[in-house]
Amino acid sequence: MLKKTLFICLMMVSQALLAQHVKPVYLDDTKDMEERIEDALKRMTLAEKIGVIHAQSKFSSAGVKRLGMPDFWTDDGPHGVRPDVLWDKWEQAGQSNDSCVAFPALTCLAATWNGDMSEYYGHALGEEALYRGKDMILGPGVNIYRTPLGGRNFEYMGEDPYLASRMVVSYIHEMQCLGVASCVKHYCLNNEEEYRHQVNVKVSDRALREIYLPAFESAVTEAGVWGVMGAYNLYNDEHNCHNSITLNKILKQEWGFRGVVVSDWGGAHNLDQAVRNGLDMEFGTWTNGLTEGASNAYDMYYLSKQYQKAILEGKYTEKELNDKVRRVLRLFFRTTMNRKKPYGFLCSDEHYQVARAIAEEGIVLLKNEKVKELNNETVLPIDPVGKKILVVGENAIKMMTVGGGSSSLKAQHEISPLQGLQNRLKDCNCQIEFARGYVGDVTGNYNGVTTGQNLKDERKPETLIAEAVEKAKTADYVIIFGGLNKSNHQDCEGHDRKSMELPYAQDNLITALAAVNKKTIYVNISGNAVCMPWRKQVPAIVQGWFLGSEAGTALASVLVGDVNPSGKLPFTWYENLKQVGAHSFGEEAFPGIWRDGKKEIIDEEYKEGIYVGYRWTDKQKLKPAFAFGHGLSYTTFKISNLRAENTVTTDGEMTFKVDVTNTGKVAGGEVVQLYISDLKCSVDRPVKELKAFQKVFLKPGETQTITLDTDKRALSFWDEATNDWKAEPGDFMAQVGDAADNLSCKLKFILR
Ligand code: BGC
Repeated sequence: MLKKTLFICLMMVSQALLAQHVKPVYLDDTKDMEERIEDALKRMTLAEKIGVIHAQSKFSSAGVKRLGMPDFWTDDGPHGVRPDVLWDKWEQAGQSNDSCVAFPALTCLAATWNGDMSEYYGHALGEEALYRGKDMILGPGVNIYRTPLGGRNFEYMGEDPYLASRMVVSYIHEMQCLGVASCVKHYCLNNEEEYRHQVNVKVSDRALREIYLPAFESAVTEAGVWGVMGAYNLYNDEHNCHNSITLNKILKQEWGFRGVVVSDWGGAHNLDQAVRNGLDMEFGTWTNGLTEGASNAYDMYYLSKQYQKAILEGKYTEKELNDKVRRVLRLFFRTTMNRKKPYGFLCSDEHYQVARAIAEEGIVLLKNEKVKELNNETVLPIDPVGKKILVVGENAIKMMTVGGGSSSLKAQHEISPLQGLQNRLKDCNCQIEFARGYVGDVTGNYNGVTTGQNLKDERKPETLIAEAVEKAKTADYVIIFGGLNKSNHQDCEGHDRKSMELPYAQDNLITALAAVNKKTIYVNISGNAVCMPWRKQVPAIVQGWFLGSEAGTALASVLVGDVNPSGKLPFTWYENLKQVGAHSFGEEAFPGIWRDGKKEIIDEEYKEGIYVGYRWTDKQKLKPAFAFGHGLSYTTFKISNLRAENTVTTDGEMTFKVDVTNTGKVAGGEVVQLYISDLKCSVDRPVKELKAFQKVFLKPGETQTITLDTDKRALSFWDEATNDWKAEPGDFMAQVGDAADNLSCKLKFILR
């Protein structure tokens, strides 16, 4: 009862706090702005025009001083505002006012399946950016989770194009309401880190349109994003920072994008393509991430002096240049020149509240069995009073906001899982012990920001396991915090994971602890799925993501039951790589094959086509460890009575209704998911595809009727014959439930 009341109170406090957002008027484009753009363009000299389309420092580009236009400042993104580096060096600037709130990684945001959380995220991060004087946040990232080895999956929103599309829109919209541009990245097909500068992706048009582009398309056509970052890799033998198909044809012509295309740092390679193929602002040339870089190379950029010279020599007219400059000026009027822009805040209580609320809603309860030792009750939530709780594992104490590449932050604070539990349980008359269990990566710095933690422990793995096992024998609960970290070859930019197994021999530790304590809980910290060969021996498993500043607080809330978990997996949790489409066709499909034996271009063919994630496991009839959309709760829900007013549609628009009842004893949240199957079609189609969802919070015994809408696009496939979306008349099936593998409500309907 106490827990239930506490949960409801916390929800109310958090909703009240979040509701305090004063939403400014959406800074929409106006006719007036277009006139001002034309006016400014006329007044600019050639040198001034050239000046605004390339970087002048590591993260800024020039304004037009003579016309009163300030410099333009970008910064990473996407989980908080990155600390400042020096003007022309990757070294820290050493500011004392650039510590920030670290928000949960975007995998966690996607796992909330709650658009409101995206709104709070975009708004809070936008406010932090404003205070720090940043005009553009280099995020969010929406590349599709193609393989669990993907080093940057943690920065993205999972495997499903529809889920990612829904979650990206409000993030961008709310940030841009504040006059801060989002720069959605990395457009497109950047699904591998290892050879990100050399990979040339070969993919069918269908897979491109149905799987890899929809989230970008929604960012552009629905959210009206102001910036798009071209990816490092190649598609159709052209780099994505200047690609005639993806940028000119699809982004600008088809989707009508009016913002700027920003190159990923060092992603431009060629003057002619940079001029003609859609690039508008060039950043980071002469750098290769953080490792290489010529000093003050800005005049040597493609879109700098050499472009100016080529124009003066008559090789180009100013046509392409003016298009780029118009876009940049539009960006200026939306951001730096925006007179309605508020001031923003850094590290406000509200921002911490947002970080915590998202973390709490994104945590996924993967497994929670009843055990004999607890009178046939589930292991979670723990009942701590008077108990001995053993916390094990490096990830219980390791700071995770430093590392991982460009998303690394200098967080004002980060509560570790151990600290979170200690804080929450300090008045519970319980004993918390810690055992290291394993040693992973004890270094704690990225690009000059250090955690200040000393994690050194030179004991041997056997000794660490033996110590944990001894302590576990007498513990009431064992909570292991393991998983990955932000070091190279784990959840980190620049490389992919080498295998799907847990590193640092954690499997041995977990198996040994589960053998001596039947109330063992494993909390996995990562942005990727990991193999869990011991899955059946551990009664409770929680997916804890990279949760940012409030990580420990949020995890403790869920483990103790102050918060009822309601997160759902945004990707399929495969048993192993054999279940992954991308790994089923040899090296040609991942990681690719070097062309002509030279180490210049590596061709990678997405042979699994549209069958990514659950689309693949469905087709192959494979049972993953945990399905896409899966996530348990401390209560139970019943989803029933799927209905539609009309089961015949001529335009694809359908409105489904379904009842959801909280049939358990505590309040909680459920995500109702609608998947559509095309029962007969002239082309091969996935068994089912997510096309609508809604999250609801219900008190015990409460029922709500949920409405789920679809439109023609939800029934369509990309028709390679006509190069357009096509919905073929015939029978369809709607399936509704709480996970891709648990869809108990079905309803047939017809498209005429
Ligand atoms: C990353 C981008 C990032 C940029 C600036 C690149 O290496 O791929 O995501 O925004 O650096 O830090």
